[in-house]
Amino acid sequence: MIRTQKLRVLFITSEIYPVCKTGGLGDVSAALPMALQHLQTDIKILLPGYSSVLKGVKYKKVVHEFNDLQHFPVATLLSGKLALSKTESLSVFVIDCPGLYVREGGPYLDAQDRDWPDNSLRFGLLSKIGAILSSDASPLKWQPDIAHCNDWPSGLTPAYLHFHSGRKAATVMTIHNLAFQGVFAPGTVIQLGLPPSSFNVEGVEYYGNLSFLKAGIYYAEHITTVSPNYAQEIQGESLGFGMQGLLASRNDKLTGIVNGIDTEKWNPETDAYLAKPYNGEKLSGKALNKKELQQRMGLDIDSDIPLLGVISRLSYQKGTDLLIQIAPELVKLPAQLVILGSSHAELEKQLVPLAKMYPSAIAVQIGFDEALSHLIEAGADCFLMPSRFEPCGLNQMYSQRYGTLPIVHATGGLLDTVVNYTPSSLTKGTASGFLFHPITADGLLKAIQSAINTYQDKKTWYKLQRNAMSKDFSWQTSATAYQEIYRSLIHAA
Ligand code: ADP
Ligand code: GLC
Repeated sequence: MIRTQKLRVLFITSEIYPVCKTGGLGDVSAALPMALQHLQTDIKILLPGYSSVLKGVKYKKVVHEFNDLQHFPVATLLSGKLALSKTESLSVFVIDCPGLYVREGGPYLDAQDRDWPDNSLRFGLLSKIGAILSSDASPLKWQPDIAHCNDWPSGLTPAYLHFHSGRKAATVMTIHNLAFQGVFAPGTVIQLGLPPSSFNVEGVEYYGNLSFLKAGIYYAEHITTVSPNYAQEIQGESLGFGMQGLLASRNDKLTGIVNGIDTEKWNPETDAYLAKPYNGEKLSGKALNKKELQQRMGLDIDSDIPLLGVISRLSYQKGTDLLIQIAPELVKLPAQLVILGSSHAELEKQLVPLAKMYPSAIAVQIGFDEALSHLIEAGADCFLMPSRFEPCGLNQMYSQRYGTLPIVHATGGLLDTVVNYTPSSLTKGTASGFLFHPITADGLLKAIQSAINTYQDKKTWYKLQRNAMSKDFSWQTSATAYQEIYRSLIHAA
C-alpha cells in the first residue's frame, strides 16, 4: 500500500529552546522537529508546563482535561504554537499541572542544585500523557505514528505503551546522555502505575531500582543516540554506565545519528548578538568581536594573544576540573581564557578565584547567558571542550561555523565532527580543529600549546578557519536519517 499521508510524530521532551534550555537537549528539541517539519513531517511536541513554557507558548487552547488518571494529579492538556523565529513555529502540547511544574528553579533541580523530590511523578506524568496521546486511548483526533522520546524524562512512554493492548504508535528512544538515567526507588513502579511484573531485568529494573532510561531502552522499538561514535562507545564498559549489556544486545536496533545545528541562529553573518557580523571571506569582523569580548569580560585588550573560549555546564563530564588545573600554565603561554559556565557550586567556587588571581587573562561568568555565548563563539580564537565523554556536543560545531577552532578530546560526537589538523588533512582541505587523547590535564595543555603554535602561522590558521567555516552542519541529512527510521518502523508494524 502506498502511504500518501504525512508521517505523524509526537516528539516528547523536557526542554525546548527558547523557552527552556539547560543544554543541548533544548537546542535539539527545537531544531530537529523544525527540520523534520521542512521534510513534510506532521510533528507536534509534548512539553511539561513550566512557567516559561506557559508564557512562551502562544495561541493556547484547552484540548482535554485529564481528571481520571490513576496515580497522577489532575492535568489540563493545552495546544498552542511556539515561535522559533519571525516566520517559523512548532505545534506544541503543554501539560498544565502547576503543582508539578510551576515553581522557582530549573526543570530538574531546585535553586540549591538538588533533584526535585517529586521528579518521578513530574516526568512520570510527561511519559504517561505521551503514551496516552500515542495510543487509541487518546482523547484527540490527531494520533501519531511515532512517539519519539528523548532522554530519561520520557523514558517511561515506551513502557506504558508496551502494556497498552490497543492500537499504538511505534516508539523511538533517543539517548542524548546516558549519564542521566532517572533512577528511583523500587516502590516508584507501583506509584506510577506500571505493572509489578515490569520490575524485572527484562523490563524497567536497573540494579535494584527503577530507571526511566533503562525502561525506554528496553521497550522502545528503536533506539538512537546523537552520534555514530557514541553509539559504539556506549556498548562498552567504560562509557556504558551499566547499560552496555542491554545496548549491545539491542545493537541491531541502535543507530547513531549526529546532531545538526540551527544554522540560522548560529550564523556569524547575521548573528544579532555580535559586535560585528563576518564571514569566511572577510574575517576582519572577527577581530572586532574579540576586542568586544575582551572589553566586556575585563581582559587586557590585545589582538595577538590567543583567546580561548569555554561555554558549558560545569561538570566532571565537561572536564571543568582539568581546566582549573591547567589555568596557571595557560596564563604563562601566554593565552587568555573566558569561561561561561552554569550549575555546579563546587566547581564555581574553584573557578571564580582564578579570575581574581589573573584578572587580565582569565574571566569567568557563572550563569546561563545566551547572548554572551554567541559573542564567545565569535570573539575567541579557539574553543575548548576537554569532555571526558560527549554524546554529540554542539559548541564544537558552532565554533567551527564561527571560525573559532575547537580543541577537543577525541571522544563521542567530538570525534565525528572535528577533523584533527595534520599536514595531510590540511592538504586535503578537511582539517578543522585539534583532537587529543587520552584525557589528562597534561594532554589538554599540550593540545593547546600545539594549537597556539599553529595560531602563530597565520596562513595555515586562516586555511583551517576557512575549512571549518565551510563545513555543512545543517540538520537536513540527520533529519532525513530520523525519517528513515520512522518509516522503517511503520512498515514493520
Ligand atoms: P550538553 O547538552 O551536554 O550541556 P551541548 O554541547 O550539546 O552540551 O549543548 C550545550 C548547549 O548549551 C549549547 O547550546 C551551549 O551554548 C549552551 N550552554 C551551556 N552552558 C551555557 C551557559 N552557561 N550559558 C549559555 N549557554 C550555555
Ligand atoms: C546531551 C549531551 C550532548 C548532546 C546533547 C544534545 O546533553 O551531553 O553531548 O550534544 O545532549 O543531543
